[in-house]
Amino acid sequence: MLNANPLTGSIGVEVTGLDLTAPPPPDEIAELNRLFVEHSVLVVRDQKLTPQQMVKAVELFGEIFEQHNKRFALPDCPEIHYLSNQDHFQESGKRYIPGEGYHTDHSNDAEPPKATVLFAVELPDSGGDTQFVDMRRAYDELPETTKERLAPLTAVHVYQSKHSERKLMALSPEQQAKIPASVRHPLVRTHPENGRKALYLNPIRIESIDGMEDAEALELLEELLAHATQETYQYRHKWRPGDLVMWDNRCLLHKANGDYDHAQRRYLYRVMLKGDRPA
Ligand SMILES: [Fe+2]
Repeated sequence: MLNANPLTGSIGVEVTGLDLTAPPPPDEIAELNRLFVEHSVLVVRDQKLTPQQMVKAVELFGEIFEQHNKRFALPDCPEIHYLSNQDHFQESGKRYIPGEGYHTDHSNDAEPPKATVLFAVELPDSGGDTQFVDMRRAYDELPETTKERLAPLTAVHVYQSKHSERKLMALSPEQQAKIPASVRHPLVRTHPENGRKALYLNPIRIESIDGMEDAEALELLEELLAHATQETYQYRHKWRPGDLVMWDNRCLLHKANGDYDHAQRRYLYRVMLKGDRPA
């Protein structure tokens, strides 16, 4: 029997008593989808999944999003990419912590993935938490004047914003050819499944705000990011082996932490689900 416990007052719900090696009954699948949309971060504990079983489990929530960069695909299950602290390095040889710094995944796509799912295969003894920010509550609690100012605004998203402090891995020409040079998304988007509004920011990808000078746009984006990333809007996930964590990119920011002993291996599987055009 499936048990669900909320992890904070808003985002995050922990599910126990579930074994995703085989499909659950339809009522449980519906309940899992409902929990995901309501709580935005779904934490399913104690799973023992092969890559193929993980893909089947994730497909209960939607259609798999084809990843742009094939470099970290599992050879026998290319829908899954792995995250590992052992072989992600920049060209300079510097260790690269994927996902460091708040962001939402692939917002430079016309239709960014609605969800990202990680499965913890191997973890360091401590550290390496993933932090999530509830962009619905962050939006709800903005002053009315700010909401009115944001309502008509659209932002230009690119692979790597000129303003980003974090430098992403360089794309090969083939990868570059697969993604648009830039896309426009509203700064406030409405969740297609529950109608709730959320701030849609991405400090590593937003290049500009339409109709605004860079200085003014940056000031606004920094102010919104500082507001949204306050501790009160956060859920900080401490990983346990066997955790399957799925989050809603449409209404959250997330970031990784590289604060662990890198002599220990941290290895997770990653899958994303297709989403629609932000509106
Ligand atoms: Fe990410």
